[in-house]
Amino acid sequence: MKKKQTETLARIPRHIAVIMDGNGRWAKKRLLPRSAGHRAGMNRMIELAECIFSRGVECCTMYALSTENLSRPQEELDGLYSLFREYFRKNVETLKKKEIALKIIGDASLLPEDIRLLTQAGEEKTAGGKKGTLVLAIGYGGRQEILAAVNEAVKRGKQLTEAEFASLLDTQGLPDPDLLIRTGKEQRLSNFLLWQSAYTEFYFTETLFPDFSEKELDRALSDYAARERRFGKI
Ligand code: FPP
Repeated sequence: MKKKQTETLARIPRHIAVIMDGNGRWAKKRLLPRSAGHRAGMNRMIELAECIFSRGVECCTMYALSTENLSRPQEELDGLYSLFREYFRKNVETLKKKEIALKIIGDASLLPEDIRLLTQAGEEKTAGGKKGTLVLAIGYGGRQEILAAVNEAVKRGKQLTEAEFASLLDTQGLPDPDLLIRTGKEQRLSNFLLWQSAYTEFYFTETLFPDFSEKELDRALSDYAARERRFGKI
């Protein structure tokens, strides 16, 4: 009985997913342009990924740009694209050295050509990294991902198992997220990992993403570790 209870307790998550919300509000509070908030968010993302892998987490997925975010003003998108370019130019080598594999999920055809090439090169250079996988969701939408998989299944003309269906998703081969952290007060999924988060534990915080510290990551991890995960069983 005791053993069973221990088994169902969550410990260190294998996969953490993060919705990095609140960059705009962080900038507004400081009378800065939104682009300054996104830059602070990128710096925080780099630090946070490092902390997450140092805790023994295997996979970390960061929501950097949703399909719906693509309707933001062009000026804001251009600012984000510049940050993505900078990120890939400056960080791929470090990830390779740390043996972290980079993986991009989302519809690459929605992105500027040069970013598509940078993301492909980043994936190729870091392929086989054994210490962890950093997944960046860029131009990603959960419904669009599911729809593309359904259309592929229809083309194949046969009924699929759950595992076969999951293998048609962008996240093919990755574990489902155990813990999803959303910063910036809102408590919703916003089209992120809809299929994959069926049994994910959620941690919502009002902290704006650029302020999400290592200390708060540890708070989220302790909160997670104390949860009992039953996956629908008793
Ligand atoms: C949502 O906050 C955040 C985004 C749409 C962009 C997130 C991007 C980053 C953190 C930079 C990531 C960089 C790389 C290289 C992957 P918001 O702008 O909607 O904030 P608000 O709700 O306060 O307006």
